[in-house]
Amino acid sequence: LVAAREALDRLIRDVPDFPEPGVVFKDITPVLADHAGLAAVVAGLAEAGRDEQGRSVVDTVVGMEARGFILGAPVALALGAGFVPVRKAGKLPRETHAVSYDLEYGSATLELHTDAVRAGSRVLLVDDVLATGGTARATVELVERCGATVVGVAVLMDLAFLPWRDALGEVAVTTLLSVG
Ligand code: PRP
Ligand code: HPA
Repeated sequence: LVAAREALDRLIRDVPDFPEPGVVFKDITPVLADHAGLAAVVAGLAEAGRDEQGRSVVDTVVGMEARGFILGAPVALALGAGFVPVRKAGKLPRETHAVSYDLEYGSATLELHTDAVRAGSRVLLVDDVLATGGTARATVELVERCGATVVGVAVLMDLAFLPWRDALGEVAVTTLLSVG
């Protein structure tokens, strides 16, 4: 975790006025581009899916479009789990569950294939950023509609000045870096 935090402090870039005036956007792409940074972040996120003995306690990792895909798949491999995508409306080809939610900027609908997560399975959600928590909250609902249990949400970074904690209720959250 120390290695992950050091990489994040060094590599995350502040971008003023993106995507709109007054917002300071935290750009994580330099972390992904750095091999040591990427490895440290994936290892740090995977810890959220292990018990005290270091054994995996999850059988599925769900990642949210788009940056949750990049981090979620290697975390799934590290945990001996499969990876399942949650996508924005209209992208998944078969029958889906759908949940609409509010974003930091605007609103959106997320979907999950109805048969992608087995009832009774234990699921870790992985994304890059927790802001309002709307994306993660909607994904928890999608996973629960499949009859599965969300073990926790793991993110590279949370924006501490936004109310993601309220959005997520009792769900366990692992965050490698709090900013704000
Ligand atoms: C960003 C980010 C998270 C979400 C966090 O994704 O990657 O998924 O917003 O915000 P929230 O906690 O307020 O829901 P975005 O919707 O911008 O999509 P992208 O990854 O496709 O750029
Ligand atoms: N950075 C990256 N992703 C985000 C942010 C941010 O500041 N806010 C909402 N999603």
